[in-house]
Amino acid sequence: EAAEKGGYEHYMLKEIHEQPQALRQAVAGRIDPIEERVDLDLSLSRSFLDDLDEIQLVACGTSYHACLYGKQLLETLADVRATVEYASEYTVGSGRDPSRTLVVGVSQSGETADTLRALRMAKRTGIRTLGVTNTVGSTVARECDDALYIQAGPEIGVAATKTFASQVVSLAMFAIDVADVRGDLDPVAGRELLSNLQDLPGAVQQALDRDEEVREVAEAYAGGEAFFFIGRRFANPVALEGALKLKEISYDHAEGFPAGELKHGPLALVTEATPVLAVLTDGARPEETRNNVKEVQSRGAPVIAIASESGHEGDYEVGFGVPDLGLLEPLAANVYLQLFAYYVADSKARPIDRPRNLAKSVTVE
Ligand code: G6P
Repeated sequence: EAAEKGGYEHYMLKEIHEQPQALRQAVAGRIDPIEERVDLDLSLSRSFLDDLDEIQLVACGTSYHACLYGKQLLETLADVRATVEYASEYTVGSGRDPSRTLVVGVSQSGETADTLRALRMAKRTGIRTLGVTNTVGSTVARECDDALYIQAGPEIGVAATKTFASQVVSLAMFAIDVADVRGDLDPVAGRELLSNLQDLPGAVQQALDRDEEVREVAEAYAGGEAFFFIGRRFANPVALEGALKLKEISYDHAEGFPAGELKHGPLALVTEATPVLAVLTDGARPEETRNNVKEVQSRGAPVIAIASESGHEGDYEVGFGVPDLGLLEPLAANVYLQLFAYYVADSKARPIDRPRNLAKSVTVE
């Protein structure tokens, strides 16, 4: 087992560090930089995509957060409505024309019972389904009309890490493809996202190279009574994911909020004993989030900020920068949150790869 961990103490840390490679694999052979196109080898016809009214994304856990990111990418690039639901809560909903709806089920394992239930319900209603999964031959891949493999390689740690990034990247390519086929794609926006996709592995590596600094910060703040994560727009799913990672493996109370919602309730919980992790990257309305940062600082909370390297100077207790990466900046920021969760949990000697009460794949509803 030690050999399989490649010198890392836990699979989770190994998998966090595998992200640059996983992200290269996710786009391999799928982006044509000359033609500025994406080819995902899906059977969705041009006329089906042209007539589409709504893309419904369904998933659980980390994959649900990837869907929240994917929804924003789809609605930014393509002129189509995208909605996200927890798979366990999914119903087709009224006012939908099944022939103009696509359900996208996102599942690392491809075996999550709640996600399968949602996909089967959609199928029974006559809705086309697309499965986005890491697992070739999984039930999701077999039962959906189309499968898009995220090509992240095996993930052993119960807490999903590299597969989150690969899911978002896969949904980004899907968004470009849908927008392109429908004739909605702004060429400048498309070109920029394609180049961001190619630069992402390098940006993730830059964050990974600061592993030791993140460990020191995590150890310094591990005694917090609770941890709050805030971000807007594309950084919001990453804030939710950062909180989920921390609670899964450290058992600390952690919550993620859209930064603007803080003042509508959660602010009552903020004290000098509750570190706040703020994601202030591009595509995340960082100027407004900076105001929220001031609100928590004035209540004494220490702020660990992950911000764009360019142009977002601020006064934070701790700051980490991410390079210019457009709409994908929060994905690079997420690496700091993964490392933070890992090192908080490690400082408490938690069983990181097998947290209590959790399973890698939940096959009951
Ligand atoms: C379980 C795991 C989570 C995972 C979720 C969805 O709850 O503990 O880490 O995000 O299932 O799994 P899936 O395989 O469908 O992505």
